[in-house]
Amino acid sequence: MLLALHIADPLPAGQYSELGADSCLPCHAAGMPLDATPIFMTRHASRLDPAAPFSDKQCETCHGPGRDHVYAQQRGEPGLPPVVFGVDSPNPPAEQNQVCLGCHQTHGRLGWDGSAHQASDLPCAACHQVHVERDPVLDHEAQQQVCFDCHSQKRADVLKPSSHPLRFGSMTCSDCHDPHNGEHDFLLQQPTVNETCYTCHAEKQGPYLWEHAPAAEDCSLCHRPHGSNHAPLLTRRAPLLCQQCHAAAGHPSLALSSEAVEDSARNRFLLGRACLNCHSQVHGSNHPSGTTLHR
Ligand code: HEC
Ligand code: HEC
Ligand code: HEC
Ligand code: HEC
Ligand code: HEC
Ligand code: HEC
Ligand code: HEC
Ligand code: HEC
Ligand code: HEC
Ligand code: HEC
Repeated sequence: MLLALHIADPLPAGQYSELGADSCLPCHAAGMPLDATPIFMTRHASRLDPAAPFSDKQCETCHGPGRDHVYAQQRGEPGLPPVVFGVDSPNPPAEQNQVCLGCHQTHGRLGWDGSAHQASDLPCAACHQVHVERDPVLDHEAQQQVCFDCHSQKRADVLKPSSHPLRFGSMTCSDCHDPHNGEHDFLLQQPTVNETCYTCHAEKQGPYLWEHAPAAEDCSLCHRPHGSNHAPLLTRRAPLLCQQCHAAAGHPSLALSSEAVEDSARNRFLLGRACLNCHSQVHGSNHPSGTTLHR
């Protein structure tokens, strides 16, 4: 699972405290304003796992050599440990992240460098919390709130009448996105939009006897993955959806109306499901005579 690539010691030089965590706890214990103790309920605090920070320098594996901080605070003087995490930290994100990546440069995070989140200078701690029993971003429902803090348009999208079942946590952002991995466009889990969709909608992959070109090319030509006012997740309603690419002329393209138009252009089948009343196999057809996606 864990492949530690200790390329270089990510921590600044300095002196460690004498007693490890016991040097820190007098001031960071339960009930205090800067309580650090919930970390003891997490995997980072395991002393059995040789790769975990608590098998090494404990708190200072992450926060760096802390003796100066301890002494300063004991004397009532200002002073922080060498590494403080978070978006408001005096340490630049790259410096903070080097600490985490020292142990976590594996799986998707091999693609962290150059990803949209790395390029925007996000610290790991913009999304992750390590001083809580369960990091919210690892929970399906709570994760979305973390993402919405910065991607507020997506909060509005998933509340639209047609959406993926994200609202109650039966799905979440990381089903489609890997926030660490910039190898694929839009931080997608799979190399393309379609391959991402096929992981759950395998039947749409075909192979079809009669393909519909846009479906094989890119599902998002017709669907909005995050939510839409037009069910099911459509960019717009038929017939307009279809007429972006197909000419209206010479074919039923208007519902019955009082306008003076050629008879062949009006058709009651254009009410309701519009083109889909006749062309029902919009993703492709396996019927021997399904060339026009009727069956
Ligand atoms: C004598 C009390 C004392 C001891 C011992 C102590 N700290 Fe602190 N620590 C503080 C105080 C007070 C602050 C707040 C300082 C400030 O905001 O200027 C602080 C701040 C911090 C912060 C920054 C919090 C933030 O995000 O604003 C970290 C991280 C930290 N301490 C870690 C440690 C570690 C690790 C140790 C042990 C090596 C340790 N502390 C030992 C009193 C102490
Ligand atoms: C000294 C090595 C080390 C450092 C430094 C470290 N971790 Fe970990 N981390 C581990 C180990 C070991 C585990 C548990 C085994 C695993 O998940 O692979 C773990 C697990 C995790 C998990 C999964 C937790 C879970 O409950 O499944 C997250 C998230 C995480 N670390 C984030 C971070 C972040 C963010 C940082 C930097 C602030 C960081 N880690 C620093 C070693 C480290
Ligand atoms: C934009 C938000 C975000 C940022 C920034 C972020 N992560 Fe994550 N991280 C997540 C989410 C979401 C998951 C859960 C993924 C899942 O369930 O597949 C996760 C899972 C993890 C895990 C546990 C699961 C695993 O894949 O092993 C580790 C470890 C981890 N992240 C480390 C890091 C490190 C190190 C950084 C900084 C280089 C970082 N993360 C930056 C959102 C983020
Ligand atoms: C795996 C790396 C890691 C270890 C080990 C670790 N911390 Fe932290 N610490 C962080 C990160 C990341 C934050 C930023 C806030 C968060 O993620 O919860 C933080 C935040 C803090 C804060 C500020 C808390 C606040 O409420 O703002 C203090 C104080 C602190 N740590 C002290 C400690 C002490 C004391 C220990 C040992 C008992 C320790 N840390 C062990 C990574 C670590
Ligand atoms: C602290 C703010 C912040 C958080 C939290 C955050 N993001 Fe981002 N995200 C950004 C920024 C900044 C960008 C780059 C600019 C942009 O595209 O808006 C970005 C870009 C993206 C992109 C587009 C990538 C591209 O190539 O265009 C995706 C997808 C994304 N984030 C998903 C997520 C997910 C999923 C989460 C929650 C796990 C999340 N983000 C949490 C700030 C954040
Ligand atoms: C069903 C798969 C799926 C889910 C779930 C999903 N996304 Fe996306 N997301 C995509 C695809 C596909 C794209 C590529 C552009 C497009 O088609 O809109 C994308 C693009 C993005 C972008 C960049 C482009 C844009 O539209 O701004 C951001 C940011 C983003 N998603 C954030 C999120 C967040 C936050 C969540 C969770 C609330 C989430 N996504 C859930 C599939 C998904
Ligand atoms: C992680 C699994 C997963 C992925 C990946 C996924 N979907 Fe879905 N999709 C679902 C689930 C679950 C439903 C809801 C099914 C239901 O309600 O019966 C759904 C429903 C839909 C619906 C019908 C919505 C409705 O209102 O009936 C459409 C359209 C759709 N997905 C398109 C896509 C597209 C396009 C992609 C790729 C960008 C995608 N899906 C990726 C799981 C997924
Ligand atoms: C040319 C436009 C178009 C493209 C491209 C497209 N779809 Fe659709 N999709 C539709 C329409 C229209 C419906 C509604 C069908 C209906 O009401 O009978 C639909 C319905 C769906 C549904 C829900 C009903 C069902 O048939 O299961 C899913 C899931 C779905 N599409 C997934 C996908 C996936 C995955 C892709 C990419 C491989 C894709 N679609 C590409 C137009 C499109
Ligand atoms: C993004 C563009 C696009 C959209 C949107 C689109 N199509 Fe198509 N459609 C195509 C292309 C390209 C072909 C292949 C044309 C060819 O091979 O000459 C095609 C082929 C067809 C065919 C078969 C034609 C033939 O001669 O074999 C039918 C029927 C069809 N589309 C119906 C629809 C319907 C109904 C909709 C709306 C639900 C729709 N299309 C939406 C691009 C689109
Ligand atoms: C009343 C049923 C019906 C409706 C409604 C309908 N079509 Fe057709 N469509 C057909 C039939 C039948 C054919 C086969 C005609 C042929 O083979 O000459 C066809 C053929 C096509 C073709 C193949 C190329 C061509 O012109 O021969 C396309 C593209 C197409 N329809 C698109 C659409 C679009 C877009 C809509 C909605 C605006 C639509 N159709 C509505 C019955 C319908």
